[in-house]
Amino acid sequence: MKEKLEQIRSAVETELKSAADMEALENIRIKYMGKKGELTAVLKGMGKLSKEERPVIGALANEIRQNLEKEIEEKKSAIMAAEEEKRLAEETIDVTMPGKRSIEGKLHPLTQVMDEIKRIFMGMGFSIADGPEVEYDYYNFEALNIPKNHPARDTQDTFYIEDNIVLRTQTSPMQIRVMEKTKPPIRVIAPGKVYRSDTVDATHSPVFHQIEGLVVDKGVTMADLKGTLEMFVKSLYGENTRARFRPHHFPFTEPSAEMDISCWSCGGKGCSVCKGEGWIEVLGCGMVHPKVLANCGIDPEVYSGFAFGIGLERIAMGKYDINDLRLFFENDLRFLSQF
Ligand code: DAH
Repeated sequence: MKEKLEQIRSAVETELKSAADMEALENIRIKYMGKKGELTAVLKGMGKLSKEERPVIGALANEIRQNLEKEIEEKKSAIMAAEEEKRLAEETIDVTMPGKRSIEGKLHPLTQVMDEIKRIFMGMGFSIADGPEVEYDYYNFEALNIPKNHPARDTQDTFYIEDNIVLRTQTSPMQIRVMEKTKPPIRVIAPGKVYRSDTVDATHSPVFHQIEGLVVDKGVTMADLKGTLEMFVKSLYGENTRARFRPHHFPFTEPSAEMDISCWSCGGKGCSVCKGEGWIEVLGCGMVHPKVLANCGIDPEVYSGFAFGIGLERIAMGKYDINDLRLFFENDLRFLSQF
């Protein structure tokens, strides 16, 4: 028995020396002092010993157990301290190192210009309306005085979803939607995406943006149209900007006009940006056609109105001197980060 105990004592010592982590320590504890441990077995067998042997062996076994416990405790603290030190060394923070900045995003140039245009019109008392990009033929064409075989349909070739449903080719259908729902006075802009079956080049894209404007009230005249739009371009391009109106034709306005502004690049003298003309076309406009008012249940004998349609991409290209429309849609950060 005594020999067995001495054997355990020296075995424990060598094993403890090579124990490198907490797990190894725990295994040693279980091996000797667990329920089925070797030392536990010896202590359990004490009853079989003679009276004389019992106290001697008992004392020895206890001494070994206490030693074992003490050494395991000591070893535990040593291992914990070493682990802590290792962690500290690994996790040292150099507070003098420059921080990692996350990349700051920006609004797309088209969004920036759109926001600016909304801000200008809201300042003049307009509210903002939103409507569907997938639109009925009735709203996109018919109610705007563009019947089935009207040649204006050719210049706005669209994507048909069904015979009577199209991707809207213009934001003008919003005029109808607003007038159907709201009684005059109406002062609204309707910005959004429009679609045309056009091939992509430097000035064309099958998807682009327009901002529709509509004012309907008693006694609205062409003078209101001109004043409002002149005010708009001066806010956007600067006080010195001049506007001129050229007669034009749109089926849903009468009379109709296109508005040019003095070239933002040369101020009107003529340069490569305005192709020597001094003027640049920026929008279509006109007095709302009486038929269109009537289509929406508004009496053209009582009310009159004006409407306009602005192409966002063209305005943004002018504002930032961009010569290729495709740049807006390519999402190249070298381009986008300049705004
Ligand atoms: N919808 C026209 C187009 O896409 C633009 C336009 C012209 C809108 C005159 C108007 C307007 O509201 O009065 O070409």
